[in-house]
Amino acid sequence: MANPSILILAGDGIGPEVMAEVKKIISWYGDKRGLVFDVSEDLVGGAAYDVHGKPLADETMAKAQEVDAVLLGAVGGPKYDNLDFSVKPERGLLRLRKEMDLFSNLRPAQCFDALADFSSLKKDVVAGLDIMIVRELTSGVYFGTPRGIFEENGERVGINTQRYTESEIERVARSAFELAKRRGNKVCSMEKANVMESGILWREVVQRIHDEEYPEVELSHMYADNGAMQLVRWPKQFDVIVTDNLFGDILSDCAAMLTGSLGMLPSASLGAPMENGRPKAMYEPVHGSAPDIAGQGKANPIACILSFAMALRYSFDQGDEATRLEKAIEKVLADGVRTADLMGPEGGTAVSTVEMGAKIIEALDASL
Ligand code: NAI
Ligand code: MG
Repeated sequence: MANPSILILAGDGIGPEVMAEVKKIISWYGDKRGLVFDVSEDLVGGAAYDVHGKPLADETMAKAQEVDAVLLGAVGGPKYDNLDFSVKPERGLLRLRKEMDLFSNLRPAQCFDALADFSSLKKDVVAGLDIMIVRELTSGVYFGTPRGIFEENGERVGINTQRYTESEIERVARSAFELAKRRGNKVCSMEKANVMESGILWREVVQRIHDEEYPEVELSHMYADNGAMQLVRWPKQFDVIVTDNLFGDILSDCAAMLTGSLGMLPSASLGAPMENGRPKAMYEPVHGSAPDIAGQGKANPIACILSFAMALRYSFDQGDEATRLEKAIEKVLADGVRTADLMGPEGGTAVSTVEMGAKIIEALDASL
């Protein structure tokens, strides 16, 4: 059988810096665990614009459709801020999500014990936290029509439309229930069924998919505004949260910050299964290209490395190896190794991007 394939799109700013450390870890898995990947690389974002005059070449898009997983760094930067909207670096990312139809966005909020002091919440509220927010990514109010700014009764009116079809809700609900089965077996669905018809349909459909296909998973429903409060009050009550595009955008950012730095946050975006049974998939850190620290060797590579761990788990069925990588990171943090973004006000000596990567490889070696 052919080796599983990965397309690396490192992008701009710190993207290539953090991705360099991921590449070393991919090689480690080939050398030490016999997990050999066919890795190819291409351009996205400003880096692609510089060469092709657009943020994602058609050939790159075609490659992304064929591989088992895309690993993306970050796109954007001040150099591209004044470009026309149609060729902005972010458009490359949006095109990938749209054409691969990546409808299920997985955003874990996981607190490494060594960083529990770093949270803005009390230590016992976040220590050991491990929740997963599943955000619907390809529909809802960001895509629904009618949309636009119109003239009405002599004044302008801005319109966006929250719109969900049953099948759109069904597929993201299934993805949440499947995840829950591999985790804590608990799903909380969030909408505003009290004031929105799309929320009424959402609740109905999630409940039906549960009753018909996943009765063994514990399901609860919560209004999204209460969900926001509960996330900050006692986040450990949750395992998997499933919600729409807009609420998911906000709730996942809120949940993410429970655990500390942007430099620690991975994500996965999954679509429908391909012929080989693997889902269409793209993995990327939540952070951007961080122009303020780009080129200085200061970036924390952990968000991007944890994104690769998600690829091991969700694309390549290597959950044990994903756990090995997460444990290696935990070990390094417990040893007090910190990039600059993980330093508290008391200061200390920060390691570089490359040093952090090397420490994680050392910990991987020690795990054998
Ligand atoms: P950002 O995430 O790039 O940076 C926000 C702050 O967090 C900065 O101070 C940065 O230094 C820090 N930071 C981010 N990642 C870090 C890491 N791995 N290690 C240490 N510190 C880290 O967001 P910002 O500044 O709003 O946007 C910068 C550029 O990135 C813009 O062009 C924006 O459009 C783009 N962007 C791209 C995203 C993507 O590719 N998915 C997501 C967000 C922004
Ligand atoms: Mg957001």
